[in-house]
Amino acid sequence: MVKPPTREAASGLRAVARCDELGAVPYSDSDEHLFRPYLGAGHAAALDRIAAWMTEAGMAARIDAAGNIVGRYEGRHPDAPALLIGSHVDSVRDGGRYDGMLGVILGIETVAWFAERGHRFGFAIEVIGFGDEEGSRFPVSMLTSRAVAGVLGDQDLALADAAGVGLAEALEGFGLDLAGFAGAARQRGDVLAYVEAHIEQGPVLEAEGHALGVVSAIAAQYRFRAVVTGTAGHAGTMAMRLRHDALAAAAEMVLAVERIGGAGPEDLVATVGRMEVGPGVPNVVPGAVTFSIDVRAGRGAVRDRAADEIRQALAEIAARRAVTLDLTVQQDLPATPCDAGLSDLMAEAVREVTGAAPRILVSGAGHDAMVMAHLAPVAMLFLRCRGGISHNPTEAVMDEDVQAALEAMTAFVARLDRASFGAPPKEKEE
Ligand code: GLV
Ligand code: MN
Ligand code: MN
Repeated sequence: MVKPPTREAASGLRAVARCDELGAVPYSDSDEHLFRPYLGAGHAAALDRIAAWMTEAGMAARIDAAGNIVGRYEGRHPDAPALLIGSHVDSVRDGGRYDGMLGVILGIETVAWFAERGHRFGFAIEVIGFGDEEGSRFPVSMLTSRAVAGVLGDQDLALADAAGVGLAEALEGFGLDLAGFAGAARQRGDVLAYVEAHIEQGPVLEAEGHALGVVSAIAAQYRFRAVVTGTAGHAGTMAMRLRHDALAAAAEMVLAVERIGGAGPEDLVATVGRMEVGPGVPNVVPGAVTFSIDVRAGRGAVRDRAADEIRQALAEIAARRAVTLDLTVQQDLPATPCDAGLSDLMAEAVREVTGAAPRILVSGAGHDAMVMAHLAPVAMLFLRCRGGISHNPTEAVMDEDVQAALEAMTAFVARLDRASFGAPPKEKEE
């Protein structure tokens, strides 16, 4: 049954309800859990719904060449660089309803709030829902914000998903084409700033009793692909001392990754989150294993030192077990500072809403903002989430925190307008 359009006013409560609505089929590719990979059926359905909400909020909605949804709320000066507010609409498998989507919906609620009051600004506001922040389908992340920021690598266009479907074919299924993909790039002069609201995905705000925080920087990330090749053989006949078991070697490597990640400062983290075992048969000694390694730290030098240690430790394990190791960097995202001036405006906006100075924190999670920083100054607003849990279906936020975030976003936009265009125009000019 088609739902009637909502007529309630913009609010944090409505933002939460909208994220909840998008948390299940048809907006998920699985009916068992939320999984909304890039260019899947759930993604397409979500974009239809989001486009309707954008239109209702007074925006012109379109899908760009990379499959991002973009809604534009015109400003008083049509040629002035636009303020972009956004986050991502894709989800990890069995993910939560607010990671990414809440930032997109809060962008729409921010515009709706102004549209209801007849306010326009010197700049246009564009709300953008990036299609792929998580690496939800292809083995690298932030593909579509990299397209918008104009920082795609040659290898990105040759990506294929786990089922062997290439980016070109996936785009075709979405009515888009590979040749046009990079055309999603925006020009520097067209974008005044990029602002992203996101759940913290960590425990700090909750532990310290803050509803909101302002992000000072986003941690550096490496994503590696490790392929261990041993010798497949009969599980009943191959003597233990003669084996070159790729899985046993990989298991030792996983523990080395964990040990090295745990031996540095608290913000250093290293994770093996995916593994494929070949041939993956109970009575065959594994001959090949492929796994991912994700290494992050607030400072690039700390991440790089840990990555070097991991390379060395894994090479030593491979040599000792007489298996081969092929380790390739799939993604290298440097640590990204947020813009100091914009972050100050965001901090003032938070103080206006909560009456207290916001907690300033570094994000260990990656965000499209770290890519958009190539294009424009960026700022991020964090919202407390329950238990700091994310990438998990139990992810939860409080309605009143989301309302505070909406108010902080609107206060931020008004402050940015004053900083860019001076005092607001008289009512009749609005
Ligand atoms: C995205 O959520 C990431 O930090 O990997
Ligand atoms: Mn995520
Ligand atoms: Mn996210």
